[in-house]
Amino acid sequence: MTTPEGITVVRHPLVQHKLSLMRRKETATSKFRVLLREISLLLCYEITSDLALEDRVIETPLESMTTPFLAGKKLVLISILRAGNGLLEGMLDLVPSARVGHVGLYRDPETLEAVEYYFKVPDEIGDRPVIVLDPMLATANSAIAAVERIKAAGARKISMACLLAAPEGVSAFRTAHPDVPIVTAAIDDRLNDHGYILPGLGDAGDRLYGTR
Ligand code: PRP
Ligand code: URA
Repeated sequence: MTTPEGITVVRHPLVQHKLSLMRRKETATSKFRVLLREISLLLCYEITSDLALEDRVIETPLESMTTPFLAGKKLVLISILRAGNGLLEGMLDLVPSARVGHVGLYRDPETLEAVEYYFKVPDEIGDRPVIVLDPMLATANSAIAAVERIKAAGARKISMACLLAAPEGVSAFRTAHPDVPIVTAAIDDRLNDHGYILPGLGDAGDRLYGTR
């Protein structure tokens, strides 16, 4: 498969194996949640690979050295509720100093349009790198609406982390936000008539929290 511009598919064997386990319908909620948290560490490693560094002088037990540290203001992780929280905890394990924002959105089941019910993001967001988290990019209506709100709040350097994307969602998101790169573990075949990703893994929020 040719990867479209601005999208990185993480083909690491650990990611692919864990994703395959998550897709299986018999995978229990508890296992699904652990797998998503494990994959989030690996996606975080990839999506933070271009964070800026600055050299500082430190003392090791033996001598001085100049060594790199993360530069600039702290990273912001923004979870699209609910399922974005499944990626958040693992990412915070890797970047514990990150600030956290939340965007509450659900898809209207008839129109598939995103309906916002909550929005809270950290201050000085324009000076910070922002990573938006949602495991599923289906029609991309949710991610497009979330990123519009986050840009309106002042964010300028945004990337999008997801687990599974549909080709339709990738195309819509890239059209709406060509400046926002996507990192995902897979691009599946298509959407069904209800906007679900095929073959997919079902409803990520329900599988994560056992609500169906
Ligand atoms: C799911 C998922 C995304 C959205 C993706 O959330 O977590 O946010 O659907 O679909 P889209 O790309 O077509 O917008 P859902 O609306 O089911 O809400 P929930 O997380 O509260 O269950
Ligand atoms: N949201 C999900 O959780 N799963 C899909 O397949 C599509 C949207």
